[in-house]
Parts: sequence; C-alpha cells; structure tokens
Amino acid sequence: MERLTVSLLLVMLAGAPTRQQETLDWWQTTVLYQIYPRSFKDSNGDGIGDLNGIKEKLDYIKETGIGAVWISPIYKSPMVDFGYDISDFRDIDPVYGTMEDFISLKDKMKELGIKLVMDFVPNHSSDQHEWFKMSVKKVEPYTDYYVWVDGKIDPKTGERQPPNNWISVFGGSAWKWNEERGQYYLHQFAVAQPDLNYRNPAVVKEMNDVLRFWLELGVDGFRIDAVPFLFEDDQLQDEQRSDVETALPTDHSYLQHDLTQNLEETYDLVKQWRQLVDQESAKDGITRAMMIEAYAPIENTMKYYGNSSEPGGHFPFNFLLITELRKGFTAQNVEDVINQWMDNMPPGGWPNWVVGNHDNKRVASRFGKDLVDAVNMLVMMLPGTAVTYNGEEIGMEDTFISWEQTKDPQALNAGEERYELFTRDPERTPFQWNDSTSAGFSTNPQTWLPVNPNYKTLNLEAQLLEPWSHYQVYKHLVATRSADTIQKGGLFVKALSDAVLAFVRELEGSDTYVVVMNLGKERKIADLTVFDSLYQSLTVHIPSSNSGFHQGQSVATSKINLPPGAALVLISQHQ
Ligand code: GLC
Repeated sequence: MERLTVSLLLVMLAGAPTRQQETLDWWQTTVLYQIYPRSFKDSNGDGIGDLNGIKEKLDYIKETGIGAVWISPIYKSPMVDFGYDISDFRDIDPVYGTMEDFISLKDKMKELGIKLVMDFVPNHSSDQHEWFKMSVKKVEPYTDYYVWVDGKIDPKTGERQPPNNWISVFGGSAWKWNEERGQYYLHQFAVAQPDLNYRNPAVVKEMNDVLRFWLELGVDGFRIDAVPFLFEDDQLQDEQRSDVETALPTDHSYLQHDLTQNLEETYDLVKQWRQLVDQESAKDGITRAMMIEAYAPIENTMKYYGNSSEPGGHFPFNFLLITELRKGFTAQNVEDVINQWMDNMPPGGWPNWVVGNHDNKRVASRFGKDLVDAVNMLVMMLPGTAVTYNGEEIGMEDTFISWEQTKDPQALNAGEERYELFTRDPERTPFQWNDSTSAGFSTNPQTWLPVNPNYKTLNLEAQLLEPWSHYQVYKHLVATRSADTIQKGGLFVKALSDAVLAFVRELEGSDTYVVVMNLGKERKIADLTVFDSLYQSLTVHIPSSNSGFHQGQSVATSKINLPPGAALVLISQHQ
C-alpha cells in the first residue's frame, strides 16, 4: 500500500492528473508503427519490399487504427547496413522506388490521416557519399566533413596504429586507414559508415538543410538514429575496460563508452534540431515531431527530453522493456522498469513504450509466444505513446537464419562461430500477410531474407478470421487508447507476486481501466483489491487469446483465475 501512495505522489509530481484539461497532440495519442521497408510488402516481385508495397498496405494500417508510421531509411544507399548507410540524404533508393513514388505514398497517407515519420540518420553517411569521396581527396569544403586523424607509430615495431583503442558497435577498431588520404577515419558503426564531424559548422548546416528538405516535402517528423554517437572526446583518449567479463577485446561491450557517447555537445545539437523542426510547425500550427534513438544510461536518456525552455526530442525512445528485462520477465522487474521511466522523466515529459524494433529479437521469441498479448497490453495501456514494430501485432517470431543466409553486417563481422549472438536478421524477415507464396509479401519465392516457415499458420489473414487472435486483441487495444482514461489518466502499478503484474489507469469522472497479467508458467489467482479504488466486480474488456475469458464477462475483483500467460484489460465502470 505504501508503494501505491508513493506512486500516486510521483504521478502527481509528474503532473499527470492536470493533463485532464490538456488537449493532447497527435504524437501523444497515436500508436507509432515502425515499418522496416525491405520486409513489409514487395510490389514488383524482386523479393525486396518497396514504397508502392507500403502504399498498397495503407488501408490495413488505417483499419488497424494506427495514426503514425515511421519508415526505416529509404534513402539512396549501397545497403551495407540496409539503408543506414546513406549515399544521398535527399534521394530515394531505386530498390524502394522513386521520388514520385515517395510523394504519392506521402499524399495517400495525408489523405488517410496517417502521419509520416522519416528516419533521419545524422551520425554517419555511406563511404560512397560524394561528401566522403571529396573528403578523401581533401576537396573543400569537404576536407573536414568527417573525423580524420593521423595514426600513431608503435615505438617498438615502427608500425602504424589507430590513434586510440575505440571499438566500433559492429566490432573491431572504430578507425579505418585510408591509403589515399593517408589518415584514419572514425566509424562508430560499419567501416562503410564514416562518422560525420559535427564540430565542423558546415556539417551542421548541411544536415539542417537535409532536415528542411524533408520538412518542405511534407513529412510529419523524424526518428533520429544513433544520437548518442554524434560527438566523441576531442582529446581522443582511450576508453576504459567495461565490466562485461564475457566480452572479447574486439567487442563493443569490451569498453566503457563515456568518451564516445552522450557528450554534452550532443544534447545541444538535438535542441538546435528541435528549434528547426519547431519553426516548421509554427508555420501551420501542426507539430512536426522528433523521436530520439538513444540506448543510454537512464540519466543520459532523460537529457534528450531537454527542458521546458530548451526542449530536445518530443521523446527519447523508452527501451527499458527491452534492455532491463534481460535479467528476467518477472512482475517485479516490470514494475521497476515502469517506475524507472515514470520517476526519471523531467517535468512535463511525455512517456512512451517500445518493446521491439529491427535491432532486437521478436517479442514472441524474447518473452515467449504465450506472452504476446500481455506485452502488447503493457505497451498500449501504459500512459504515453505506444510504439509497434511491424509484425508484433500478429506475434511474429524470430526466423532462424543460417550463417550462409546472413546479411546483417554486425553478424558478418562477428564470424561464423559467434554470429548468432549479434545477428539482427531473425527479426527482419518478411511480414507474414497470408499463406500464399512468400507469405503474400512477394510474388517471388526468393526473398532477400527467407520467410519464416511458420507463415502457413502464423499470418494476418488467418488472424483476421479468428475473433481473439493476437491481431484482434491488438486492434481492440488500439481502439481502447482513445479512451480519456488511457490518454490522460494516472497510473498505479503493482507486482502482486513474482508472476502477476497489475496496473490501474484512473481519471476522475471516467471509467477506470485495470490491466492484469500472469507472466509465470503456472495458473495464478490475482487479487486486485489491493487497489482500493476498484468496485467489487470488474468487466472483461479485452481478453488475451489464451486467457479463457470473454469480452463482457464479469469477474470478482478479489479473485481472478489466470492461466499462464493470460492477460486482461478490465473496466471498473464509472457510475
Ligand atoms: C541504429 C539503427 C541500426 C543501425 C545503426 C547505425 O541503431 O537502428 O539498425 O545499424 O543505428 O545506423
């Protein structure tokens, strides 16, 4: 009970109850749906998804109730990191279509009232970008567009060495020698992704122009990629050994990264981008939103919100449900993770919940197939913006990808023995639309990554026919998000045991919602009377597929019998 009081106080401090009067903006109330374009829908039979494919499926997105789509990069790219290595920030890659296709997609989205969020990848370009090619040749003004440094000479061997011990995210030294220029360049990701130099004002201006280019084309916001990596220590000091004992000396996790991530200048640059984006919003009063990708310690992550006088992103993504539950998906851990975000948010901060993306294992494979609905309930019923990675609404699973089939540069760099520890291919396989050729993703039986063999039974079409399939549960959850209580209500969360988690969403004058879930492997009885504001009986509003409950069923608040993995959204009606 004490915990409840503390949570209540924190909610009040965070200002949640006052939100009752506030009109919320589109980026706050919507579900942000991430499309990985290579794997969503292939319209021309080349085995790779494309823009016209996305356009074909907009009705599905609309029908599901989703209000905003973030598309992973579709810019011109040699595809070393599948679009995150960009060779022209202002053009569309031919594999995805043309600029006309893009405009037509954007127009159709406007027509349907779906916001379009683009991926902005500022940390690096491709080594095939004209800027890099000119930089190698020291052609002005490009000479200092990238981070170029002389090597060191080993006094014993006389051999040339990188300037320090920094390690790239994809493994091995973060420095690559360029013979032509006679210097090393920094790449915090793949060798083919040279880091841009944000200490050069010309680079800052250049990337501001890129942002303006897309804003003028009518996009509604940006998901900003790999933000912590924008600046590095200008003294180029070595980083210290981390406490990850299992790491090899070539692994990124071998070192601490306080000299190569989250430097103070990074927050300033984010604030400058926010000003630029806000200028565009001021023109017509419609918000252009900025979402920050930062896997960082919580205190750093929160700094990406900025503050009320100098805002940063509209929100930094909340990855805690991904990163902090590796130690166990127990009710207590989930409660802690929820509180960790809510308690650390700066005043006025808007929460959000992410549980999957193209860089992390599928929910069904990470937490268990029987927990798909429970996890979607968490993400959708907690206060704030819900983020969904395409395929999570139907509970797609990781696909086994052999070493021979491997495409992800992070996995390739790790080598055959260790690639499975690093690979992101399993969560990137084609969307499973139906049980026809290539799961209805492509007419081509050969797709860029193989379709998961489970597509014959696990696909959208099958789930559309089934009343409480994962998809139907998901769609009910999206619809429920329009309730005032879910949008603006306070939050009380409590682990009732190791396995049972419950939370209450409450708003004066509106229905109270309760979410309860059994994360364990055995049947459990949940007693929700610990939340003293609830009536003696509750009505089932959304039952998970595996719960055995049905919509409209009345249950005793003191005694809810939950099979393993079962989850319910309940309503305690306002009278
Ligand atoms: C982000 C992307 C990831 C990419 C990396 C480099 O973390 O989500 O897919 O590899 O940045 O751009």
